[in-house]
Amino acid sequence: MLRTAIAVATVILGMSPAIAAGDPAAGEIVFKKCATCHAVGEGAKTKVGPVLNGVFGRTAGTLEGYKYSKAMIDAGAGGLVWTPETVQHFLAKPRDFVKGTKMTFPGLPNPQDEENVIAYLLTFSPDFVLPPPPAQ
Ligand code: HEC
Repeated sequence: MLRTAIAVATVILGMSPAIAAGDPAAGEIVFKKCATCHAVGEGAKTKVGPVLNGVFGRTAGTLEGYKYSKAMIDAGAGGLVWTPETVQHFLAKPRDFVKGTKMTFPGLPNPQDEENVIAYLLTFSPDFVLPPPPAQ
C-alpha cells in the first residue's frame, strides 16, 4: 500500500508534457495486443480484463461488475487513478507497477507504443480532461 502511494507520488511529480504526443491510428494497431483481453468502443463487453471505455479518470479497480484482483482494488484504495502517466507506467511493467495484478501482460517495451496506445484509448475517454501541471 505504502509502495503504491510512493509510486503514485513519483508519477505525479514526474509528469511529462510529452505524453500528448501519441498517434491514435498507430495506437489502434498496438491495441491488438490488448484486445485479447480488453474491449473498447460501443457495445464493448468484459473479456479477461475490464472494458477500457472511460478508463482515464477512473480509480484503479473500480469498474462496476468487473472482478478485479485484490492488488488492483488495493491500488485504487491507495489513490491510484488512471491518467496517461499512470497508465504509461503500468503498461511498461504491469506487475511491477501494481504488484499482484492479475493482468498477465509482460508490458510494452517501446515507450512510443505506450504513447500511441494511450492516445488511442483517450479517444474512448471523451470526458477525461488532463490534470493541470503541478505548481512550480
Ligand atoms: C492477458 C490479458 C491482458 C492483456 C493482453 C492486457 N490486459 Fe490489461 N488487464 C487485464 C486484467 C485481467 C486486468 C485486471 C487486473 C487486476 O484486477 O489486477 C487488466 C487491467 C487493466 C487496466 C486497469 C483497468 C481498471 O479498470 O482499473 C488497464 C488500464 C489495462 N489493463 C490496460 C491494458 C492495455 C492498454 C493493454 C495492451 C497494451 C492491456 N491492458 C493488455 C488483462 C490483460
